[in-house]
Amino acid sequence: CIDIQELRSKTGYITMDPGFGNTGSCYSSITYVDGANGVLRYRGIPIEELALKAGFTETAYLILYGKLPNENELKSFSDRIREHAPIHTNLEHHFSGFPKSAPPMAILSAMLNLVSCFHPEVLDVPTTGDEFDRTAALLLSKVRTIAAFAYRMAAGKPINHPNPNLSYCGNFLHMMFSDPYNEYEVSPEIDKALNLFLVLHADHEQNCSTSTVRVVGSSRANLFSSVAAGVCALWGPLHGGANAAVISMLDAIKQSGRPLTYYLDRAKDKDDDFRLMGFGHRVYKNFDPRSIILKKQVHNVLTALKIDDDLLKIAMELEEITLQDDYFISRHLYPNVDFYSGILLRAIGIPLDMYTVMFAIGRMPGWIANWKELHDHHLRISRPRQIYTGNTEHPFIPMNQR
Ligand code: ACO
Repeated sequence: CIDIQELRSKTGYITMDPGFGNTGSCYSSITYVDGANGVLRYRGIPIEELALKAGFTETAYLILYGKLPNENELKSFSDRIREHAPIHTNLEHHFSGFPKSAPPMAILSAMLNLVSCFHPEVLDVPTTGDEFDRTAALLLSKVRTIAAFAYRMAAGKPINHPNPNLSYCGNFLHMMFSDPYNEYEVSPEIDKALNLFLVLHADHEQNCSTSTVRVVGSSRANLFSSVAAGVCALWGPLHGGANAAVISMLDAIKQSGRPLTYYLDRAKDKDDDFRLMGFGHRVYKNFDPRSIILKKQVHNVLTALKIDDDLLKIAMELEEITLQDDYFISRHLYPNVDFYSGILLRAIGIPLDMYTVMFAIGRMPGWIANWKELHDHHLRISRPRQIYTGNTEHPFIPMNQR
């Protein structure tokens, strides 16, 4: 039991907000979210419009620089990304040091930190000007190469070096899936689906991983270590890791043959740790606009690719019964971005353990833009307070008396 009066006399007034549900940590002009009305805009542009009209590199430019690029700007930005796609040969050797079972998210985080060792000039990167532009393009490019190499290494396959003639998504798919005697052919449907996935994940204001990037960056840690920390935060199943957890859950439902109500009851049981993965959001209390877009696009992609996925049917039935359920209605629990995204990634052919890595590739523009904004605003170091509930004084007991 905490004596609030005594605490106040010692520490003054402290706002308690575990999980920071109602605490603003910064001013930002990057991404606007209106959770009550399911609105998401990057630099003011609705996500629905970007999803239809913009590619990932164009969206990344928008998030980083605050405006859509004109043709020349997009070309030089894309050229820079292309130029940085290869990774240093010595860095390539590091991949063989990981066991085959190493989780790709661990590899990604470690490798992003390592990249800076091979580019010491970027450790002290300014937040404006050509040096910043170069570093941002370098990160957007290298995250994609590292992700693909991590997959090839785990699959026991030789690395495919980047092909400068391919698009951002095309190059990634080539590095993932080409074989020495069989160049992967990127179909327009798959290229479009991957672009859409990345655009929808490009930023989402002060989510767990972006806040982590900001907290780490606030100590003036470099951009590489800050985004590497972001990868670690994203990994958890309550955040980016949910996209893989959704597919595992849908698969388990399919294999078990149990009725969906069994899983619904478990999700509602407070003595059971089970949650419906892909449901709920801290900010969206009506619907997540990304999930609406994904649900529609998953249908289009599966139809175009002539794929009939049982997991999509289960997902839609699950969504349907939660919409009639008081527990889910009263808590405003609706499908979030992770609910349908895994089905899209399955259709593209991405293996399950790479799903959260795909999220990280998509979120990179948001992480970099938030790190830059933190510096542009000269923010103070992040340093929350606590309410101490332990002994305030305790005698030291010698070893022989314990
Ligand atoms: N299944 C069952 N119950 C849930 C779920 C769920 N998926 N999500 C929340 N609840 C319940 C909680 O038990 C709580 O109930 P109570 O009021 O009876 O105690 C209530 O809804 C509020 O939940 P909180 O955990 O307090 O909500 P919070 O805002 O802290 O967490 C989160 C949001 C982490 C997304 C949560 O809804 C969740 O765990 N969802 C499943 C994991 C998931 O899909 N994560 C991806 C989020 S999107 C993203 O990060 C990209």
